[in-house]
Amino acid sequence: MAGERRPSVAIGITGASGALYATRTLAALLEQGVHVELVISDYGRRLLRDELGDAAAVDQLLPFLTDRYGGGVSAGSINVHSNRDLGATIASGSHGCRGMAIVPCSMKTLAAVAHGLSRNLIERAADVMLKERRTLVLVPRETPMSLPALRNMVTAAEAGAMILPAMPAFYQHPKTIDDLASFLAGKILNALGFEQRLFEPWKGGE
Ligand SMILES: Cc1cc2nc3c(=O)[nH]c(=O)nc-3n(C[C@H](O)[C@H](O)[C@H](O)COP(=O)(O)O)c2cc1C
Repeated sequence: MAGERRPSVAIGITGASGALYATRTLAALLEQGVHVELVISDYGRRLLRDELGDAAAVDQLLPFLTDRYGGGVSAGSINVHSNRDLGATIASGSHGCRGMAIVPCSMKTLAAVAHGLSRNLIERAADVMLKERRTLVLVPRETPMSLPALRNMVTAAEAGAMILPAMPAFYQHPKTIDDLASFLAGKILNALGFEQRLFEPWKGGE
């Protein structure tokens, strides 16, 4: 399948804790044959290595994903952009990206998205999603949260973003941190309009 014909999604990784959420989301999208336009902030790059080790450095990311999640990731494709490149495809609304998730999303990037700053490619691509009325999923992680951060979430939600906090649930009886990451990645896939097989949907009960 040619890259252009795949469903295309932008993923931003910023410097909040939870790099595993990003790698699980990336792998799950790739397994479904999605083309991912990937942008990682400077602190996002640092968090990938701090939390997942040197093997998860950006230039090793595809082998890392294959090693950790299996060869199914080769069904999709990734195009990595510099966060400084405001001339990249996804900086324009004419690019056919169907949606974007920023996972994890730092309070700094949340603030920038809420206020439309567009200073780097992650912020600009997020603003493009809002102006084009496409899906923008923000996965903030911080605790406790300051009043400015809480207000910025409301502002971003009012502008059309979905706030999907990095809050895994426990009704799935997770056994490993990968189970926790899979739950969140499944929620992100659903929010982006994809089916997910990462966790069993709740079937109801007493
Ligand atoms: C080890 C480490 C963990 C961090 N965790 C968080 C976090 O969970 N949430 C957050 O908002 N910022 C966190 N930060 C701070 C952000 O990385 C920092 O504000 C940075 O400027 C964010 O920039 P970015 O949004 O361009 O990646 C962390 C920083 C470090 C070094």
